[in-house]
Formats: sequence, C-alpha cells, structure tokens
Amino acid sequence: MSNNVVWHKHVVDQEVRAEQKSQRPLVIWFTGLSASGKSTIAGALEQILTHQGYHTYLLDGDNVRHGLCSDLHFSDADRKENIRRVGEVAKLMADAGLITLAAFISPFRADRRLVREILPEHQFVEVFVDAPLDTCRDRDPKGLYAKADAGEIKQFTGIDSPYEEPENAEVHIRAGDVTVAEAVNQLLAYLHEVDVLRAGYEPIQQEA
Ligand code: ADX
Repeated sequence: MSNNVVWHKHVVDQEVRAEQKSQRPLVIWFTGLSASGKSTIAGALEQILTHQGYHTYLLDGDNVRHGLCSDLHFSDADRKENIRRVGEVAKLMADAGLITLAAFISPFRADRRLVREILPEHQFVEVFVDAPLDTCRDRDPKGLYAKADAGEIKQFTGIDSPYEEPENAEVHIRAGDVTVAEAVNQLLAYLHEVDVLRAGYEPIQQEA
C-alpha cells in the first residue's frame, strides 16, 4: 500500500448504517470440507433472516470464484488470497451494516484468523460445518470427489490438500448427524444468545 494513502473517516459509519437497519452487523463464517453443507446451511439461515426483516448478504465460494476470484486456483497461495479478498469484502459488507454470511472451505486456520482480526471485536462468528470426509465423499453432489480420487483434480481438500479444523469455533455443527433445520436452529440459538436477533425469535419448524 502506498504510504501516501490516508484513511478518511466518513460521518456515515457502521453504527449509522446498522441503526438504520435496526440490526447488529457481523460476519458469520462457515468453514468445512466441500459438500459438508456450508452453502446449504448458510442459504437456509439467510432465508430465515431475510424473512424476519434482517438485511443480509451471502458470499459463496463457488460463486465468488466466477467473478472476484476468477483468476485464482487451488494452490495454498491462491486459497490464501481467495480468503484474504473475501475477508476484505465481508468486512466491507459488515461495515455497510449487513449480516454477512460467508461459505468457503477456507482450509487454513491462519487465513480464518486473519479475517477475524480485520473485523471489529465480536463481529466474526466462526461456524465449523463438520461432516466426516466419508459423508462428503458419499454425497459428492458435483462429482468432484470421484474426479479427485481418479486423479483428475489435483489439490482437492481432504484428499491431497489439507483441511485444518477450527479449534475454537463459536458454533460447531455436526453436519453428518443433523438436518438443515436443526443446523439453522443451532445458529439462531447462538445468534439469540449473543443478542444479534431482535426480541421474539422462534426456532423454525422441522421439515417433515
Ligand atoms: S477455498 O479453499 O479457497 O476456501 P472455496 O470455498 O473458494 O475454496 O471453493 C471451493 C469449491 O470449489 C468447492 O465447493 C468445489 O466445488 C470447488 N473446487 C474445485 N476444485 C477444488 C479443489 N481442488 N479443492 C476444493 N474445492 C474445489
């Protein structure tokens, strides 16, 4: 960064934007293996929050890699840069007053910690979407595990690229054992506990 760039503090800041939306902005960061359920759970939570009048945005690995990060691949360095960029975007979105959801494998602890550190205190919630590798492999919705096993995709997370499990995630979802509704309720309960939700929140009903 140039030494000649000085931060400009504007009058309309995060507090003003959050107040206008009557909500507490934060980043809810979903990490886990491919096919663990990150996007599905994040999308379901976003749907409920939006329905209840909250202002949200969901950043999703598969989508962001079509635009902002379309120049990046899956080497360790590219994943690091992917998470750095997305972390900065998530920070801007939270600064805009939004409840921001981010669903990325984000396999490296250090990269997730960096995102936590650039955000104001208490505005980063790490959610470990913890599904066993075998479960993800069985689901294989995009056929990527099959390709990785056949050696057609290199550096696939969990196969020949590491995944570092969170040690102190705020929310730990046992994604192999719970339904999407249960996972969303676990998240709603956490958000309620830390006073992110307005009064009157109720858990969602189980799907039949
Ligand atoms: S991250 O590691 O940099 O955080 P990100 O979440 O953006 O990854 O993208 C992961 C998605 O890219 C997966 O859900 C999968 O669909 C696709 N993908 C393609 N190649 C790979 C790979 N080698 N490892 C993991 N995911 C891959």
